[in-house]
Amino acid sequence: KEVGNRQAFPDVEPGFMRDLLPSDAPKAGESWEDVYSDIERVVMKGMTHWNASGFFGYFPAASSFPGLLADILCGGATCVGFTWVASPSCTEMETVMMDWLAKALNLPQCFIHGGHGPGGGVIQGTASESTLITLIAARSKVISRELSRDPNLSMYDVLSRMVVYTSNCSHSSVERAGLLAMIKIRKLDAGREGVLRGKTLQEAIDEDKKNNKIPTFVCATLGTTSCCSYDNVDEIGRICEIEDIWLHIDAAYAGTALICPEFRHIADGIQRSTSFNFNPHKWLMVNFDCSALWVRDSSYLSNSAKVNALYLEHETQQTTIDYQHWQIPLERRYRSLKIWFVLRMVGIDGLQSHIRRGVAEAKYFESLVRKDERFEIVFPVTLGLVCLKLKRPGLNLEENSINKELNRKIQDDRRIHLVPSTVHGIYFLRVATGSVNCSRQALDN
Ligand SMILES: *Cc1c(COP(=O)(O)O)cnc(C)c1O
Ligand SMILES: *[C@@H]1O[C@H](CO)[C@@H](O)[C@H](O)[C@H]1NC(C)=O
Repeated sequence: KEVGNRQAFPDVEPGFMRDLLPSDAPKAGESWEDVYSDIERVVMKGMTHWNASGFFGYFPAASSFPGLLADILCGGATCVGFTWVASPSCTEMETVMMDWLAKALNLPQCFIHGGHGPGGGVIQGTASESTLITLIAARSKVISRELSRDPNLSMYDVLSRMVVYTSNCSHSSVERAGLLAMIKIRKLDAGREGVLRGKTLQEAIDEDKKNNKIPTFVCATLGTTSCCSYDNVDEIGRICEIEDIWLHIDAAYAGTALICPEFRHIADGIQRSTSFNFNPHKWLMVNFDCSALWVRDSSYLSNSAKVNALYLEHETQQTTIDYQHWQIPLERRYRSLKIWFVLRMVGIDGLQSHIRRGVAEAKYFESLVRKDERFEIVFPVTLGLVCLKLKRPGLNLEENSINKELNRKIQDDRRIHLVPSTVHGIYFLRVATGSVNCSRQALDN
């Protein structure tokens, strides 16, 4: 059965796999036929099918024929391109593909490798890593700035005074980056609309500066996971410029929409950001994993955790990019191949139609919901996410409990798979369109 026609969420209980597998690995190798015959019985039995037509959870997980082909070639060719010499092809394809993508999304010139500035792009595994690595870069930038002002300080004095700001609607990975980097994080009120405004940020910064803290990093979101709201990057960016704070933009999901000119207004003010990230593996038809990160000045990334080892040195390291210094692991796969195959075989036109189709599906579903008096739309439908809830006049609590009940029934029924969310104490259901097998027919059901 094709994945599109499978049940989105499997009928299995925790621990099901142990009963299906022997307790130890086989001593002698088995034939491919034997392994193959177990794929359905063991693997597929417990899959959540992100590309089933009944899957509307989270945000979509990209999958395409060109993306799959590239991953097969990547596995077959075995590439570990941590320095230029470790694989010149891998390194150079990545710099060119990041420029292709930056131009296709109309990103600011400062992010382009071929733009002759210190900026450029790199492929990370996930948005979480992109946030963490830019926070680490900002941390070392601030440490050297403060130590050059006052050499009597220790880096730990500086670290203990740093503050990271984000909205309380941003993704959990931002809080996690703060924990991992051991920097205090302030989650600012994004209000009813889930939008962080400049005024809120400015007040927090002023208060912290009064208390001898060092505002270090702001992570703004374009397209929040809970409700697809957009922080006011223009207002936030102006403040970050004046206060000399690193502004990172997490556009993991919505960034893909910038490929269509009619959606570019969501990123107004992006030219003020220090780094920008989105996940082609969500909505741009590039199979997981592929998270695109651009920085205005790559030296902060590559100098923040630079170590040298003789076995990694090579003759051209002064003039070539060694992506090992732009990421947490050393080894890296040839992920840009997926971008190249997808951009060539689908083309910018094809990708634009794919995005427009996802948005049209969401608008269509929104229109169905609006016709039904029992439901209401909770947040504006701007891209491929519809947030809805059952209406019940009276207390929030009562309304939340009937919506929780509805969610439970939908999960038990198994025909479709959704995840709920909550903003400002309101519980609602999220319907994310735009996966490769999503269709109006699926939405009608
Ligand atoms: C999905 C998502 C993330 C997390 O992405 P990973 O690549 O899994 O780390 C972060 N931020 C937003 C806004 C997201 O939608
Ligand atoms: C954000 O914080 C404000 C103020 O503390 C609170 O009223 C609001 O409900 C919070 N929003 C979310 C999504 O948690």
